[in-house]
Amino acid sequence: MVKPPDSDRRAALVGLASALTLCALRPPAARAAGPGQPAPDDALALPSWDERPRVVTPEDLVLNAPPLVVYPSDLTGKTVRERSRLNQILILRLSVDQLDAATRRCAADGIVAYAGTCTHAGCSVSEWDATARQFLCPCHASRFDPARAGAWIAGPAARPLPALPLKIQHGRLLVAGVFRGKIGAKSA
Ligand code: FES
Repeated sequence: MVKPPDSDRRAALVGLASALTLCALRPPAARAAGPGQPAPDDALALPSWDERPRVVTPEDLVLNAPPLVVYPSDLTGKTVRERSRLNQILILRLSVDQLDAATRRCAADGIVAYAGTCTHAGCSVSEWDATARQFLCPCHASRFDPARAGAWIAGPAARPLPALPLKIQHGRLLVAGVFRGKIGAKSA
């Protein structure tokens, strides 16, 4: 196995540490969701171009299955805020035992959600490494760990994918806060 250079390992550790901190912190009280971005008590829905557009329920998330791409929505799924790529969310269910402490605070029964826009240059994080259980950006191969608060693992991104806190209320899967961090490329 090829070992990464010391500088890469150091950078990966910095990325992991900042991801842990971000998900552990509560957002500042004054901070609000950007226009159209997911906000507390939103539902999450499959978009209109999906085979079965509708609000997702906890039962739709199968343990260790690849992530679904969803968007913030009203509770009925009639108004899905799917026009902006910045509203794209990756959602999946992992075993609670797999999640670190910071990620558990953002998760609902093992279900975790992250911004679907890469923190390097803003591509959609559209690939999934099922073996490593990592998100993979197809543009320049950045990797992110959904069990470690979206920590950046490899590639040029150098920032975690912002986590989106979730909750389950009366059987509904709902947003519980705002994204923990800036969406997309740093300079965007
Ligand atoms: S845009 Fe994702 S790695 Fe470059």
